[in-house]
Amino acid sequence: MNEKILNFLRDKEGYTSGQDIAESLNLSRQGLWKHIQELRKLGYDIVAVPHLGYKLLKIPDRLYPWEIKENIQTDFLGKKAFYFDSLSSTMDKAWALGQAGQPEGILVCSEKQTQGKGRLGRSWISKKYKGLYFSLLLRPNLLPCKISCITLLSAVAVLKAIKKEINIPLSIKWPNDILLEGKKIAGILTEVNAEQDRTHFVIVGIGININHSQKDLIPEGISIFSYSGKKIDRITILKNILKEFELLYSDFKVNGPQKIKQEWKKFSYIWGSKVRVSGVSGTIEGEALDLDADGALLVRNNLGIIEKIIAGDIAQTE
Ligand code: BTN
Repeated sequence: MNEKILNFLRDKEGYTSGQDIAESLNLSRQGLWKHIQELRKLGYDIVAVPHLGYKLLKIPDRLYPWEIKENIQTDFLGKKAFYFDSLSSTMDKAWALGQAGQPEGILVCSEKQTQGKGRLGRSWISKKYKGLYFSLLLRPNLLPCKISCITLLSAVAVLKAIKKEINIPLSIKWPNDILLEGKKIAGILTEVNAEQDRTHFVIVGIGININHSQKDLIPEGISIFSYSGKKIDRITILKNILKEFELLYSDFKVNGPQKIKQEWKKFSYIWGSKVRVSGVSGTIEGEALDLDADGALLVRNNLGIIEKIIAGDIAQTE
């Protein structure tokens, strides 16, 4: 009901009569007043003026599912959203929902995480109301070894979605860090529930530093606000990501990883330069050559042998 009342008040210049709203929604005037009070508690600034009615002055900066759904431009991604004020990690909640049989496309977002997870066992600082911390559940019909393409796809979607809102010089560092002036602004973590030859589901977790001050971040981190001084609407960025992601994902399912690779390579500046990659099986130094068909990094080592690297941390050495 609250959602329906909001839809009456959204984008209206003037006041909407309480009688009109109550009659259309089959509510008593008192019932309507109760809902208005609930909305105010959620942070909606609604004024009530006798003989004129109600007017929505301000929408709160919260990731409420009905705000995400409002004018969303996707067919399946984010249409069903699970919202939390605080979670240990959206990854764990999305994983449990995947195991419980939830469909592809559900979104789990939280205003804060107490144990946000990063790659390679690191943590992800998730300060309340400042950034975006969310996970998506996907059920691609792919072999587990092809899943890295989804990580690359996510990085492209995040980068394009931010750039649509604010034109800042972002780049992608393999495999999935989004950088701004060499500092990390967003990270992506992919977890896969699979058997050797069958993927049950994939959880893509995305964390973006948006309205953080520099003091809220680690020294190697940066946010849109700390860089540009501009506060950005988190919901707009989230909706942009869902749209870009769904477009790339749908293309990927039909045509394979060609487009993702092309776009990803456009935003990465390592090609032809010397790199050092530290992975689970040691460190490889050489020239960054290309991505292979599955999204692995190809590096020509100092002996001239081309090595295929699936995971690790990369640094440019020259
Ligand atoms: C990395 O760069 O190391 C990956 C960071 C991923 C952080 C996001 S925030 C939302 C989701 N929930 C988590 O616990 N981690 C991911």
